[in-house]
Amino acid sequence: MTDSWVNSAERIGADLHLELSGPGGRRASLIRALREAVRSGRLAPGTRLPPYRSLAADLGVARNTVADAYAELVAEGWLTARQGSGTRVADRAEPLRSTARVPKKAPPRARGPRHDLRQGTPDASAFPRAAWLASYRRALQQAPNEVFGPGDPAGRRELREALTEYLARARGVRTEPDRIVICSGFAHALRLLFQQSGPGGAPVLRGPLAVEAYGLGFHRDLLASAGVRTVPLPLDEDGARVDRLGRERGVLLTPAHQFPTGGPLHPARRAAVIDWARARGGVVLEDDYDGEFRYDRKPVGAVQGLDPERVIYIGSVSKSLSPALRLGWMVLPERYVDGVLAAKGEREAWASVLDQLSLADFVAGGSYDRHVRRMRQRYRSRRDRLVAALAEQAPHIGVTGVAAGLHAVLRLPPGTEPSVVKAAAWQGIALDGLAGFRHPSAEADGTTTDGLVVGYATPSEHAYGAALEALCGVLPPP
Ligand SMILES: Cc1ncc(COP(=O)(O)O)c(C=O)c1O
Repeated sequence: MTDSWVNSAERIGADLHLELSGPGGRRASLIRALREAVRSGRLAPGTRLPPYRSLAADLGVARNTVADAYAELVAEGWLTARQGSGTRVADRAEPLRSTARVPKKAPPRARGPRHDLRQGTPDASAFPRAAWLASYRRALQQAPNEVFGPGDPAGRRELREALTEYLARARGVRTEPDRIVICSGFAHALRLLFQQSGPGGAPVLRGPLAVEAYGLGFHRDLLASAGVRTVPLPLDEDGARVDRLGRERGVLLTPAHQFPTGGPLHPARRAAVIDWARARGGVVLEDDYDGEFRYDRKPVGAVQGLDPERVIYIGSVSKSLSPALRLGWMVLPERYVDGVLAAKGEREAWASVLDQLSLADFVAGGSYDRHVRRMRQRYRSRRDRLVAALAEQAPHIGVTGVAAGLHAVLRLPPGTEPSVVKAAAWQGIALDGLAGFRHPSAEADGTTTDGLVVGYATPSEHAYGAALEALCGVLPPP
């Protein structure tokens, strides 16, 4: 290559690496290739391009093809052409900067724990793929065309109707479809209630909000980021001390199965919290995260059934089916419905309408009941195996919260929690200590004992026995 432009200070030549391929003939291919070279930064702003003649010879195309391509790119603003200084890459043609972060050193490949006993996830291997697919197929086949337009922010009516019937039957919830708003889970419900909707808009609820002294830090953080001050309520063997409620505007409770310590709210306290809400104009937020999973007696019904105008009931499929579906529901007192819908927006922007229709079919057709029944049996048997293993290998360790749910709490001797959690991690067992769930300003009360929160739903069926063996191996001796 001997053309003058090749040897100039602004040398460009074979390193243009122009590949003339793809549809539309040579002219179109050359335009695409040059555009790509500029866009990627291979041709920097200001770079002088070879004269038509030289590039044409280099690429084996006609001079006019190059001239046309340059003219097109000048018109688009990628190149500039000035008498005497040739054709150059335009100054404004900024290359795309990659946002992918390049780690300085390749991180070691993350390996999961050998035994996963973290609370929070149902047995992922038990997701009812065939039944869900059947519901999805039916939902898609039967969906009217309007389903594929912008969705109703309240959620599909089919799902709200199915939930009205199911929640009344299974959880004692009293409602009607127009009081239900579909959301993408409990965390989303909290956001809809407490976050400002749009600039200048008021949130549906304001703090301060009483919460149980032990709970999910993620939910507390979410409330804090919405500017809500949370006030911890102590816990005892009858659940949250609702007699300590004062001037808060609301209270967030897990009445069916306190999270994470495990007991139900005592019937007298269920009545007392409704009395408090009526007397103070307050509202009860009921987090019914695993209400279906109760093993030895009939499930404890929802507090919402006591007074639907004082309780916001929130549920999701995160424990019953999968947290990956991101589907949940809020059952609202009438006065909050419009505010929540306004917070949600003008159209459905959160929960896939096809997933909503699939869930409606899944619930109405009885698949949800069948799945819950099957999982209840599986989790009950796991709970029994946990209790039996402890009785045999660590009878000095108390276990509580086993009547319901997908996790249990192992009570540890005072001061041992940090070392047991560390020993477990060392042995490849993932689990949580109780301390991580404690409200930062909870006063010292009877429940600040050391403990382990053991999720017995997470491992797949074949891995559970080994996980229990490993767990018993790290518990402190008597
Ligand atoms: C205490 C508690 N509340 C609610 C939920 C459900 O949260 P989400 O519906 O946002 O997945 C969970 C987790 O599944 C939980 O542990």
